[in-house]
Amino acid sequence: MKILVADNVSEQGVAILKKEHDVDVKLKLSPEELIKIIPEYDALVVRSETKVRKPIIEVANKLKVIGRAGVGVDNIDVEAATQKGIIVLNAPEGNTIAATEHTMAMMLALARNIPDAHKSLKEGKWLRSQFMGVEMRGKTLGILGLGRIGSGVAKRALAMEMKVIGYDPYITEERASAMDIELADVDKVLAEADFLTFHLPLNADTKYLLNKETFKKLKPGVRIVNCARGGVIDEVALAEAIEAGVVAGAAIDVFEKEPADPENPLFKLDKVVVTPHLGASTAEAQVGVAVDVAHGILVALRGEPVSTAVNISAVPTQVMQVIKPYLTLAEKMGCLAVQLAEGPITTVTVEYDGEISEVDTKMLTTAVLKGIFNPLLQEPVNYVNAPAMAKARGVKTKEVKSKDAEHFVNLITVRVKTAKGETEVAGTLFGKEDGRIVMIDKYRVDANPKGWLLISPHMDKPGIIGQVGSVLGNYKINIDRMQVGHAAQAGTNIMVMGVSAEITAAALDKIKTIDGIIGAKVVNFNIG
Ligand code: NAD
Ligand code: MLT
Repeated sequence: MKILVADNVSEQGVAILKKEHDVDVKLKLSPEELIKIIPEYDALVVRSETKVRKPIIEVANKLKVIGRAGVGVDNIDVEAATQKGIIVLNAPEGNTIAATEHTMAMMLALARNIPDAHKSLKEGKWLRSQFMGVEMRGKTLGILGLGRIGSGVAKRALAMEMKVIGYDPYITEERASAMDIELADVDKVLAEADFLTFHLPLNADTKYLLNKETFKKLKPGVRIVNCARGGVIDEVALAEAIEAGVVAGAAIDVFEKEPADPENPLFKLDKVVVTPHLGASTAEAQVGVAVDVAHGILVALRGEPVSTAVNISAVPTQVMQVIKPYLTLAEKMGCLAVQLAEGPITTVTVEYDGEISEVDTKMLTTAVLKGIFNPLLQEPVNYVNAPAMAKARGVKTKEVKSKDAEHFVNLITVRVKTAKGETEVAGTLFGKEDGRIVMIDKYRVDANPKGWLLISPHMDKPGIIGQVGSVLGNYKINIDRMQVGHAAQAGTNIMVMGVSAEITAAALDKIKTIDGIIGAKVVNFNIG
């Protein structure tokens, strides 16, 4: 496949991609140039410079994945990508330490006037009294956003004997108190912080979180640090607050417009320390994000679920360990059920029995939907768009769970309902990863879901299987495996034959005319 690397990412990440695919590194492309070439590519890798907006995504007809070497995906239109079934993934952990340490450096530089003192000494001046600082110990640090970086900053601030108070709508009281952070509402954090630092994403809720109005809620003399995203603070209002003496100073790494406008009012103020978006700029972090994003891209191009995808709900590692071996099986069960069913599907029910019922199985249900819709639709169906495809077609999806699986440790049953009836298939793993179909409607079977299968319920009487074999032989179709499954009540059986090639409609019609054959379908597992 073809991968375009459009921003400057570490060579180590590019080398990982090159081992499996063709990689073009083309930097500083204009939106027009990107629109022109993007239809050729299966994957796109960016940092924050390249803006992947809707017009680019709309023409990216082969694109399967966009990888962001870093955390923030605000330079990518994630909604447009999701609608087109494109996975957007990031590298959320590679630069956490770099950004955390940069925040501490910025806070200390601000508290001790280091940039100005440094500049003045290099200019030949010795101005000890002009650069009087403040101590961190005993001060209150207010943190907005207690995720990876926010909690890392808290840990370091506590080591410096600061009191830490924070706000994050998605963090529980228990989690905060385990980190020695007092959880409070935004207004309390604003009112009590001597130092206030931002570690949240930029979105509709956080845009201009600090604005003309909210500046009035701050403790006079507060020092503000922003190493998250420009735009969470109104820069003009911040400059005014510093000039008015409400805010004692600010340390800013990120700007509303980047590269920053040289006329930015903050650049004219002595009490402002600035860096040009350097939070992630360490040798270690740049290798880290490039390697992480490269691995994510390879996994996505293999069609496997990616734990760092931002437009699929994240699956915790412990849950992933349990469900991962079942993902291919679940997809194949969807693929089998849809090819056996007749008529438009109205409901898909996925039942999880046994130990597997105790974890979050949403991704497995998505795998079933992926298996169902891939044979039906022209466009590629993946973990991103499969639930949306079901919804758009009015297909109801249900999960049923039970801790007891009668004959197996774990059993997954897929029931596909159409106006004409219900088709049921059940599957499990033999050993650690050998996925098997163990039930087709009322028949107990043991079928390996791969290649082509001829599935034919028939009367339990001699000679039928031999006649089917003769028809296939006449059409030069080889049988490479075969099994007869029994129904609970005697009278009918099902034959499940692995065949070497697709069975033509003519051959299938011949099979259906054999006396005692109840039905015959060919299922193709080579789709998707
Ligand atoms: P994260 O996802 O681990 O943490 C973000 C936290 O913000 C989450 O806990 C979330 O619950 C919280 N949050 C969301 N909305 C909120 C709101 N309205 N109020 C309070 N909290 C809210 O992300 P992270 O890795 O810690 O990164 C934090 C920020 O830093 C991101 O914006 C990221 O893009 C930025 N970042 C900047 C640099 C840099 O170079 N300066 C480097 C890395 C990350
Ligand atoms: C991020 O979101 O990861 C940082 O802002 C760093 C970067 O843009 O590379």
